[in-house]
Amino acid sequence: MSEKQKQPKKPGISRRRFLTYTIASTGGFLASGMLYPMIRFAIDPLLQKGSDTEFVDVGPVNEFGTEPKSVSFNIKRKDGWYEPKGGEPATAWVTKNGDQILALSPVCKHLGCTVKWEGGGKQDHYYCPCHGGLYTKDGTNVPGTPPNEPLDEYESRVEGGRLLLGPVKKGGGA
Ligand code: FES
Repeated sequence: MSEKQKQPKKPGISRRRFLTYTIASTGGFLASGMLYPMIRFAIDPLLQKGSDTEFVDVGPVNEFGTEPKSVSFNIKRKDGWYEPKGGEPATAWVTKNGDQILALSPVCKHLGCTVKWEGGGKQDHYYCPCHGGLYTKDGTNVPGTPPNEPLDEYESRVEGGRLLLGPVKKGGGA
């Protein structure tokens, strides 16, 4: 019997198994680094703002008319694991034409400045002071000015004579 055959088997893992585990765990670590952005991209819509927005009472509906009126309120929204106490401050430009309520977001669709009804002396338009963007009363962007999309709109409903505003949706009836 040779010397090698006489040696008792050592406890623990073999070199081959150790290398297999090391390569597998390194490969798994690198793969998770590549997979994370793909998975995050796939489930991103679930994490978008507004997916958990509640409707908020912004006042008696009969206080609104055909002239746009600005209302400030706090949106109760959960953004992933983040849920600000007392809600997130928001503003809307509200018009009421008969039973039709239109609550426009004041965020300019060009680069996100705040639009103002008849700001900058622009009669019958929402005006954005940053680059001179203009929108008509229904939120449509005026061709030839920087914004290339209509203002976003808040979902709205009336309950017990009170106007409630909810999540923001794309403007222009989309
Ligand atoms: S941000 Fe409003 S026009 Fe540029």
